Amino acid sequence: MKNILVTGGTGFIGSHTCFSLLSEGYNVYAIDSLVNSSKKSLLYIEEIFRSRDIDISNKLRFFEGDIRKKDFINYIFKTALKEKKPIDGVIHFAGLKAVAESVIKPLNYWENNVFGSYNLIKSMKENNCKTIVFSSSATVYRFSSDNLLSEDNQLKPINPYGSTKLAVENLLNDITQDANGNWKIAILRYFNPIGAHESGLIGENPLNKPNNIFPIIINSAYTKEKLKVFGNDWPTKDGTCIRDYVHVMDLADGHIKALDFLLRNKTQLIKLNIGTGIGHSVLDLIKTFENANNVSVPFEFDERREGDVCQLVADNSKAKSILNWSPAKSLKEMCIDGWKWKNTNPKGYM
Ligand code: NAD
Ligand code: UD1
Repeated sequence: MKNILVTGGTGFIGSHTCFSLLSEGYNVYAIDSLVNSSKKSLLYIEEIFRSRDIDISNKLRFFEGDIRKKDFINYIFKTALKEKKPIDGVIHFAGLKAVAESVIKPLNYWENNVFGSYNLIKSMKENNCKTIVFSSSATVYRFSSDNLLSEDNQLKPINPYGSTKLAVENLLNDITQDANGNWKIAILRYFNPIGAHESGLIGENPLNKPNNIFPIIINSAYTKEKLKVFGNDWPTKDGTCIRDYVHVMDLADGHIKALDFLLRNKTQLIKLNIGTGIGHSVLDLIKTFENANNVSVPFEFDERREGDVCQLVADNSKAKSILNWSPAKSLKEMCIDGWKWKNTNPKGYM
């Protein structure tokens, strides 16, 4: 069975993807600096398997460390080799992701996201591992509200976070020309991942105040504090912005399919949107959450948020045809699973 290095493995998407990798029988080497996560997510993953009478203790290894340190990454490659489980491929989640913070701390973002990725890629080359799936974002696109966004859409990020994602995409593009290349690369541009594993044991656990709508909805349902809906005068059916929310387990599945595709196929670079192709307004999301969970989500309208765009929905046809991937979970399931996570772990991984 293949051995996979997962950077950012204790984070929101990383932990769910570790779960899916283990379910598919992969051996996982997870690394994380824990700057925005807790290693308890991996303990809960073990617990989910234990409840199914499956022992994964020798299939999941965790190493705390920072991808800005190349020696640390090299150490993982060497350890895996010593354990006769040479790393076959990397899924690269590690990075900082708070848009507003990236505006006031751009150097942090370039150092973590770009320099960190550069180190990882250099270490991969030194250790002769040339298969990587990279977490990019719809935020790299120049937004045009009228259409579904396809991978050919013009690129123009509007904040440092987005610039760092595009910079890593460019680096990955460039290394395909490397004379000693043979790189196999999948760049996945996620739309809006939400939800949690259906057990409610793992989920999104932002260490700082969340900025994204879904954890804010969960908090508001829990505390009954009013959330602010940013703008009710957008040119949409109900005046609120439209997004493409995708269940985190469908997203995890997209990574497994991308990795599997790369491992089975020749040297190449693919760029794929990972979204459902269906747009929902902020009010749709709030109402679906309320109905699915029989709770109220108090809210009020506020000004538009600076830098927001009216509509962001994926054209996901390429991922569907190339990977044979298809999102299976509905908005209602995303809401049910997210709420279950909150009620199972009201304080996150405390
Ligand atoms: P997350 O913060 O939960 O996970 C990222 C993980 O990376 C965290 O566990 C953090 O501790 C770790 N990390 C950060 N810098 C590191 C470093 N230098 N060395 C080692 N570990 C480091 O975020 P997430 O939502 O799981 O996002 C995962 C990836 O997907 C990120 O790269 C993010 O930019 C990208 N992405 C996320 C979304 C989203 O809405 N969640 C959307 C598009 C893209
Ligand atoms: C934001 C980031 C984007 C990043 C993505 C995933 C901005 C401008 N964009 O995108 O770069 O890739 O998160 O991390 O920050 N909303 C409210 N009230 C709130 C919070 C959000 O009404 O308190 C609305 C927003 O206006 C938006 C929708 O909810 O219409 C979704 O917001 P959010 O979850 O932040 O995602 P994006 O805006 O898509």
